[in-house]
Amino acid sequence: MAETEMKPADLRGILRYVPLWRDHVFVIAVDAAVLRDENCASFMQDLAVLWSLRIKVVLVYGLGKALRETAEARGLRITDQRGEGPTDEVTLKLAVEVAGVIGQEIMEHLTANGLRCSLTNAVRATEAGVIGGVDQLCRGKIEKIDLELIRQLLASDVVPIISPIAFSRDGLSLRLNSDQLGSELAMGLGASKLVYLTPHVGLSFGADVVLNMTVDELRAALKGGGDSLDPDLRGKARYAVRTIDGGTPRVHIIDGRRRDALLTEIFDNVGVGSMIYGNDYARIRPARRRDAMYIHAITQQAVDAQSLRPRSRQEIVEEIEHFYVYEIDLTIVGCVCLHPWDADSMEVEAVYVQPFYQGKGVGRKLVEFCLIEAAKRGAKRVFALSTQSFPFFRKVCGFVESGAEVLPAARRAKLEQSGRNSRVLVRELAK
Ligand SMILES: CC(C)(COP(=O)(O)OP(=O)(O)OC[C@H]1O[C@@H](n2cnc3c(N)ncnc32)[C@H](O)[C@@H]1OP(=O)(O)O)[C@@H](O)C(=O)NCCC(=O)NCCS
Repeated sequence: MAETEMKPADLRGILRYVPLWRDHVFVIAVDAAVLRDENCASFMQDLAVLWSLRIKVVLVYGLGKALRETAEARGLRITDQRGEGPTDEVTLKLAVEVAGVIGQEIMEHLTANGLRCSLTNAVRATEAGVIGGVDQLCRGKIEKIDLELIRQLLASDVVPIISPIAFSRDGLSLRLNSDQLGSELAMGLGASKLVYLTPHVGLSFGADVVLNMTVDELRAALKGGGDSLDPDLRGKARYAVRTIDGGTPRVHIIDGRRRDALLTEIFDNVGVGSMIYGNDYARIRPARRRDAMYIHAITQQAVDAQSLRPRSRQEIVEEIEHFYVYEIDLTIVGCVCLHPWDADSMEVEAVYVQPFYQGKGVGRKLVEFCLIEAAKRGAKRVFALSTQSFPFFRKVCGFVESGAEVLPAARRAKLEQSGRNSRVLVRELAK
C-alpha cells in the first residue's frame, strides 16, 4: 500500500483531537494475521504515537492464523483455531507456545518504539465445561479480570499486553477467544474505544463496507445470525454490540494490514473501517408543556449568575415547542432551546446543565443534537449568543466567533435592545 505523506499542517487537524482523547483508555485487540503482516511494524509505531499523545492503550492479541500455520507446518491436527470450540491438549500446548512467541514479538516491537510494556496474568479463567453436550476440554471462560493491576500498569506508563491464554485459580493454562477478551477488558476498564484490528476491510452485509452504524442497526443486521458476514467478523460484530451495551461508546473494526489504519481511523473524520456507536442522543427528547415549570426552576441559578438570559415561566411555555431536555433516569438534567429565525438560520439558546452533571459531555451533546436537528430542517447555520460561555461554544462545540452582521435583522435588533453585549458565535452547517 502506498505510503501517505504527512504534511506538517496535518498536525493541526490531529491536534484538535488530542485533548479529546487525552488520558482515555483504548483497548486494541489485534488478530495474529495482522501481527504477521508486513505492516505490523508500522502498526506498532501507531501505538507509540497514541501513547505519546497520552492515550492509554491496552493491547490484546489473538492467535488464530499463527496457530493454524504452525500446526500445518508441524503436521499437527488442532481442534479449534479461534478459542471458540473444544480445545484438546495438543491444541492447548501449541496455543501456549504460539502465544509465547507472539507475546515476545510484540514486546520486541514495543521496545523498539521506546515503550515500556508487560505481559500479565491479570485474566483468570475457569474451564468452559460442557456446552451443547460437547466437552470444551481446555477452552476457558473468563472468570475475573484484575482491573486494578491493569490500571496500575497504565498509571505507571506501562502498556499492558494481554494474551488469550489465561490462568485458572490453580495456575492451569486455558485458551480464550481474544475478541471476547477485548470486549470484557473494554467494558471493565470503562474504555472509550475498542478497536479490532483484523485482516478484513470492515463489516459488510452486502456489496459495500459499512462505515458507520449505530449499535441498534448492527443488532438488527445480526438478528438473522449475520450469516453474510465472514465467521471471523461475526464474533467481533456480536462483541461490538455487547461492548457498546456495556458502556464503551465506540467499537471500530478495521483493516490492520493497511498502513496508518489505526491513526487514520481515530484522527480522520472519515476513518478507514467500520465504526459502531451507541445512540448518544437517546436521552434527549422534545420538552413537553409540563416541563416548563421545571426548566424555569433549574435554570434560575444560571440566570442569577447572569450566564443565561432571564425567561419567565410564561415565556418558556410559549417557546416550549423549541425546547429539548436531556433526561437521566426520568430526571431532567439539562435543556436547550433551538429557535428558528429564518429559512437559513437557527439559534441555540438556553443551554443549561445541572451542576452535578456538568463536565460529563451533556452540554456538548445537547448542542450537537441541535446542529443535527437544524441541518435536518434545512438550516445553513446555527448561531449562539453568549456572555460567559463563548469558550464552550468555540472550543467544545466548534463555533466560530463572528460579528453581529451574520444575525437575521430581527435578532440583531433584539440584541441591540437587550444591552447584554453578548458575543456572536456561528457554526456553518455542511451543504
Ligand atoms: C456551559 C454548559 C452548558 C456546559 O455543559 P457541560 O455539560 O458542563 O459541558 P460538556 O461536559 O459537554 O463540556 C465540558 C467542556 O466544556 C468546558 N466548558 C464548560 N463551560 C465552559 C465555559 N463557560 N467556558 C469555557 N469552557 C467551558 C469544560 O471546561 C469542558 O472542557 P474539557 O472537555 O476540555 O474538559 C454548562 O456549564 C452550564 O450549564 N453552564 C451554565 C449555563 C450557561 O452558561 N449556558 C450557556 C449560555 S448560552
